[in-house]
Amino acid sequence: MIDISMQYLGMKLSSPIVVASTPLSESIDNVRRMEDAGAAAIVLTSLFEEQLELESRALDDDLSRGTNSFAESLDYLPDLDDYRMTHEVYLEHLRRAREAVKIPIMASLNGATTGGWVRYAKDMEQAGASAIELNTYALATDASQTSAELELQLLELVSSVCAAVKVPVAVKLSQSFTSIPHLAARLQDAGAGGVVLFNRFYQPDFDIETLEVRPSLHFSTPSELLPRLHWAAILYGHLNADIAITGGVHSAEDVLKSIMAGASVAMMVSALHIHGIDHIRRVLADLQYWLEKREYTSLAETRGCLSRRSVPDTSPFDRGNYIKTLSSYSLRQTVAAF
Ligand SMILES: Cc1cc2nc3c(=O)[nH]c(=O)nc-3n(C[C@H](O)[C@H](O)[C@H](O)COP(=O)(O)O)c2cc1C
Repeated sequence: MIDISMQYLGMKLSSPIVVASTPLSESIDNVRRMEDAGAAAIVLTSLFEEQLELESRALDDDLSRGTNSFAESLDYLPDLDDYRMTHEVYLEHLRRAREAVKIPIMASLNGATTGGWVRYAKDMEQAGASAIELNTYALATDASQTSAELELQLLELVSSVCAAVKVPVAVKLSQSFTSIPHLAARLQDAGAGGVVLFNRFYQPDFDIETLEVRPSLHFSTPSELLPRLHWAAILYGHLNADIAITGGVHSAEDVLKSIMAGASVAMMVSALHIHGIDHIRRVLADLQYWLEKREYTSLAETRGCLSRRSVPDTSPFDRGNYIKTLSSYSLRQTVAAF
């Protein structure tokens, strides 16, 4: 057997496959099945900032006035019942997951402002989280807010959480930043032990008959891996923080590409929803087979071999390649037309 262990956030993981945040891990039975199938770690489903805000305002309101009048001002938010778990239930689930398996269990906090995150991060640490993933899904819809302000807000949030807990903190990032290398370096300075590339945005769809805007969720395809590979390959070697890839990882080939780009782990969700939790076992067997056939002695030795720092020609990562790709396409089209 080839050694496929990887280091992520200071933890030695048995394999590069981590289950990213998904409702699948809301069942302890599934958590056990993930470990049995070979998952090296699990990121639990997220606790949402808005949910915590609702919980604490409901409590304040009940204590001070004995009514629920605050609810009118929060019409834009889903009901508390719409969230998967309350804060207490989440912590209890985290404790049970830790007891049920030996692999690391990471907790996930999902929000956009500093708020009470520090307290919740501490609670997660106390409940046994091996690490905390901060999912900072923020949408810039306010024209008066600058990108610099949004980045500062994110950095303050990360730095306050990192200062409050001892466990490692990883930040799940959106792809929509002007300078990802600069931001990643500043997140590292703020204390982040890892960056997770990238959040998937779930844009609403338009129904042109009923004139409604509806939420839509679709599972990923491997094509979504490409921008993640690109940025991991650019960041690798310029960052001490670890890199994780989430989005479009479906097969052993996708895992290998992620590691070769420079990631320490490749995270999976859609593939497990589509093929079942046992898919992890098949991907790991394929990974072993591929490495054995090419006489690698460990997976770790492939890490970063296709990063921007390692390849002799860096142009595929840069603007030159963009121009080359577009011009070669129009040339072929023109030739075909004759
Ligand atoms: C049904 C579903 C629920 C998800 N819930 C969360 C969540 O609570 N927090 C989070 O950070 N990401 C969540 N995600 C995003 C996944 O963790 C993952 O980053 C994303 O699906 C991309 O990976 P994939 O291509 O393997 O699906 C969810 C994804 C799906 C499909």
